[in-house]
Amino acid sequence: MSEKIPGKITKWRAYYEAVSGNPPRDTTLLALDRWQEENGGGPGFAIDLACGEGRDTAELLRRGWHVLAVDSEPEAIDWLRARGDLPTVGKLETLCAPMQDAEWPGADIVNASFALPFCPPDRFPDLWARIVASLGPGGYFAGQIFGPDDDWANPGLTFHDRAGVEKLFDGFTFERCDEINRDGKDARDNPKHWHMFHIVARKNFRKN
Ligand SMILES: C[S@@+](CC[C@H](N)C(=O)[O-])C[C@H]1O[C@@H](n2cnc3c(N)ncnc32)[C@H](O)[C@@H]1O
Repeated sequence: MSEKIPGKITKWRAYYEAVSGNPPRDTTLLALDRWQEENGGGPGFAIDLACGEGRDTAELLRRGWHVLAVDSEPEAIDWLRARGDLPTVGKLETLCAPMQDAEWPGADIVNASFALPFCPPDRFPDLWARIVASLGPGGYFAGQIFGPDDDWANPGLTFHDRAGVEKLFDGFTFERCDEINRDGKDARDNPKHWHMFHIVARKNFRKN
């Protein structure tokens, strides 16, 4: 697919090439299934933070959702719009901006797959407050929070341990919160230690 996208080679191109054609994240699928069960199947509005080449955005659109896909990398938006599997249903809007600067209206799902560590730590509290505030009661967060043992951990990126994760999700009910802390491979098959929490969480109607 990269030959379809002219322009300078960015640091993310190799990632987009490696994951091109991969299915949507299972966290995204679970949040969609739950939201649709609870809301009569009707499509809603979702924001896909750090959408990358669009694996999750494409699925949201397939299910008829209105999606605002955000990524700071222009090439991500190019890859998303050049996908061969974008459905004609749903409504796609894109925003090329750092997620920490993005603004969006109320959302039914905030999707952030393998995204949030890339928010600078000093901007994370404000970004998180916007994520929480944008979800109405019954809305879902789907995505990953990265932990301090992850190979990517460094002071320029954002990581949380389990206690930190539980604090972030005060006022939510976890549908899934699976911590993994183990050696594995990255998208390009290089060895990598992964420490992260796979999360699907529903915003409570009333704070517990
Ligand atoms: C690991 S990829 C994840 C892409 C996609 N969500 C997925 O699950 O495959 C990370 C993405 O974050 C984007 N990114 C990095 N820093 C960002 C920021 N501050 N704001 C928005 N997007 C950012 C990159 O351009 C890249 O597309």
